[in-house]
Amino acid sequence: MDRQIGLIVLISLVFLAGCEEPGASGDTPAEPYTSFFTPLPEAAVFPEGNDYSDAKRALGEFLFWDPILSGRMNVSCATCHHPDHAWADGRMFSIGVDGMGLGPGRSGSQETPFHSPSVLNVAYTGLPETQPDPGFVSGGYFWDLRVATLEDQALEPIRSEVEMRSSDFLEEEIMPEILLRLSLIPEYQDLFSSAFEGPDPISEENIAKALATYQRTLTTEPTRFDRFLAGDDTALTAAEITGLNKFINGGCTDCHSGPMLSDNLIDPTKPVQVDRPAVRTPTLRNVELTPPYMHDGSRATLGDAIALYEERDDLGVTLEDDDFGDIERFLRTLTDDAFSRDIPDYVPSQLPVGGDIL
Ligand code: HEC
Ligand code: HEC
Repeated sequence: MDRQIGLIVLISLVFLAGCEEPGASGDTPAEPYTSFFTPLPEAAVFPEGNDYSDAKRALGEFLFWDPILSGRMNVSCATCHHPDHAWADGRMFSIGVDGMGLGPGRSGSQETPFHSPSVLNVAYTGLPETQPDPGFVSGGYFWDLRVATLEDQALEPIRSEVEMRSSDFLEEEIMPEILLRLSLIPEYQDLFSSAFEGPDPISEENIAKALATYQRTLTTEPTRFDRFLAGDDTALTAAEITGLNKFINGGCTDCHSGPMLSDNLIDPTKPVQVDRPAVRTPTLRNVELTPPYMHDGSRATLGDAIALYEERDDLGVTLEDDDFGDIERFLRTLTDDAFSRDIPDYVPSQLPVGGDIL
């Protein structure tokens, strides 16, 4: 063969090979990765009116773990947001009042209508890809985004009959009862006085502020994915990068983007689960550690959760089931195993730490 023709044949073969799978979802995305994702912030933002202090955090930690905040003094926040389950509870639905045990082994008669999300990184919920508006802190919260801030969220579980209040108290009775109980414990008197100024530091507002402050400190360390975003090309394997490319080119980043891989929005026209209500996009950080999945916990494994997106052009997703294993491999790079697992040794009420969870 003439050398020149040989070269042309070779070049066209290379060209054809490159075009064999037009727009294959394993290809590098058209835009840089950092236009879809940003690394985790270095620290949480604390809002005006509730700035950080060690005293507030210490109080918030005790309150989070102390079942004294529940009607029958047997449920704490940690009952359903426990470090053994990556600060969720590993259950489809949670069991609050009258339950016994922790996580999937907990038993009881009443369940919450929603699956419990992790409280890790709630300081970063709703952070957009680009610098947020001045004054924006984080949020909103809950699957239906019904509260705006962590301070607004904090008293809701205490008021909820199925989570913490129980039928022993009416909704308007429970907070006065909790304030009375706390004010009778000298250690809480001291803790509230060190954390807050003013004559009556034991107040609903300050309980909420302390709980919010503590939760803002429950953040994860940068993962391999964050190191990759920061420019370390060796932080992910080739197979994980293929999964990342498929995640982007397959349409997942339409909703799962930014530092938390979530726009934290509800698109009422596109429920991800057919025949179920549309809910807000959850974060995918530490997703490996928080089964089961979705607002109703209806997907047992991460693979099952991803499989929900098969043939979902209506969501803008263009992936085949043989892409899902690659995507799962990528999602596992969002795991931080070094998150806080600290559990206080006691709580000031002297009740069992965390409630009836043993
Ligand atoms: C009985 C289990 C249970 C208890 C107790 C409980 N939670 Fe939750 N938590 C849940 C469930 C379920 C949800 C989701 C509810 C929803 O979206 O409507 C949730 C949601 C949250 C969220 C919102 C997270 C997000 O990403 O939107 C925060 C924050 C939170 N809880 C903190 C707390 C605090 C603080 C306490 C204690 C005062 C507490 N929880 C007590 C089960 C519980
Ligand atoms: C249209 C917006 C949208 C797109 C596109 C989208 N998601 Fe989601 N994702 C959501 C919403 C909303 C939920 C929660 C749905 C529910 O609870 O019913 C969710 C839940 C998940 C969950 C479960 C997380 C948890 O903690 O429960 C995973 C995993 C997930 N999505 C991965 C993906 C992958 C992979 C893709 C691309 C194939 C994708 N998503 C595309 C909006 C979206």
